[in-house]
Amino acid sequence: MAEPTVDPALFDKIVNLCKRRGFVFPSAEIYGGFRSTYDYGPIGVLMLRNVKDQWWRSMVQLRDDVVGIDAAILSPPAIWEASGHLATFTDPLVDCRHCGARHRQDKLDDPDVCPTCGTRGTFTEPRQFNLMFKTHAGPVEDEGSVAYLRPETAQGIFVNFSNVVNTTRKKPPFGIAQIGKSFRNEITPGNFVFRTREFEQMEMEYFVPPDEGPRWYDYWCGERFQWYVDLGMPAERLRLRAHEPDELSHYSSGTSDIEFLFPWGWDELEGIAQRTDFDLRRHAEHSGERLDWFDQASGERYLPHVVEPAAGATRTMMAFLMAAYDEEEVRGETRVVLHLHPRLAPFKVAVLPLSKKPELTEPARALASGLRRAFMCDYDETQAIGRRYRRQDELGTPFCVTFDFESVDDGRVTVRERDSMDQDRVAIDEVESYLRERLEV
Ligand code: GAP
Repeated sequence: MAEPTVDPALFDKIVNLCKRRGFVFPSAEIYGGFRSTYDYGPIGVLMLRNVKDQWWRSMVQLRDDVVGIDAAILSPPAIWEASGHLATFTDPLVDCRHCGARHRQDKLDDPDVCPTCGTRGTFTEPRQFNLMFKTHAGPVEDEGSVAYLRPETAQGIFVNFSNVVNTTRKKPPFGIAQIGKSFRNEITPGNFVFRTREFEQMEMEYFVPPDEGPRWYDYWCGERFQWYVDLGMPAERLRLRAHEPDELSHYSSGTSDIEFLFPWGWDELEGIAQRTDFDLRRHAEHSGERLDWFDQASGERYLPHVVEPAAGATRTMMAFLMAAYDEEEVRGETRVVLHLHPRLAPFKVAVLPLSKKPELTEPARALASGLRRAFMCDYDETQAIGRRYRRQDELGTPFCVTFDFESVDDGRVTVRERDSMDQDRVAIDEVESYLRERLEV
């Protein structure tokens, strides 16, 4: 099957839309911005929350075998010593002697040519650069107060393995899920929120009997792929790619990435890794605590093996925006619309009175405050109705409810569906149930 094509201009269109409509702003913009960091605006914060909520719903809420935690971000060196991150969580860094630019050697198209100035043979020898952010906890900045910002949420799960086992009735196979910020001092952040130094991860460690690792790895590759498809990502813009042996992380015996076709080509959304018993074994050795599992039925004691689906929330949100973006000709004008799955849409509905006259705005506001109890609902009484529809299309709002002069007399409103632009007249007291039936939320 031919690979789908992606509009090369899509990247700039998404960056512009994000700024214009309040999804994502460059951080510290009034001071000129700050090194590839971003702030999520009033619309972006809703969508990012929806992405995380959908992950949590499928990974925790709908399952009997997964529980959640929320571990600390600041962490002692002992964790990263044991996990191997202090020794091996590095990227090869090269400097161009001609222009001074720094690059990740393993990401260069040609390892001898500087992509910034185009000169050949000017790179320094590669240095291994550790990606962890180091800080100090407390007022004294000495070796004893060193702390790290976590570069992955996973270790907070491993070090709580016994706490979770002792406080729940879970036994292998079972999982521990976590969503939260992670930090990496990336050498070359870029492509908007694709690679940033501060980002959010959605990770789950699934603990299984040692001989069941490969089976659960296949299972989680399938489950996770389907999650994106169920939320409206076209399957032809996704692929599962197994890592080559030289790509594997220090803890992994096998990893597959779920990749999305971005405007710059296929790139990673999520990795599913077989972490074997690497982490529990290392933490048991370094802490002196027993982290094995005693299976009462068989009388066996073993260190569980781990299968880990690890996704990026911020990166995934951008991919959903790119997959949903569309431009259509409508009556001689271009309409920009986000065909977002209703579960991901920032607002589920917008209430738009046709005029600013109180006879319309008062009942329209009352309708909006009623709907807000059920869904995220926007209310907008500014500008011409056509422009308000366009704005909601660009936010991906699945339904707009227009309150007009007839509504005052007949108690009905016009409900317009985003994708088809079809309109229905619906009794005001039936709008909520009408939306519920159609929104799948
Ligand atoms: N615990 C395993 C782990 O952290 P990873 O492949 O390094 O694995 C998992 O990260 C996911 O986190 C990636 O697939 C990506 O979506 C996201 N991610 C990693 N580094 C990122 C960065 N610098 N900016 C944004 N997202 C990132």
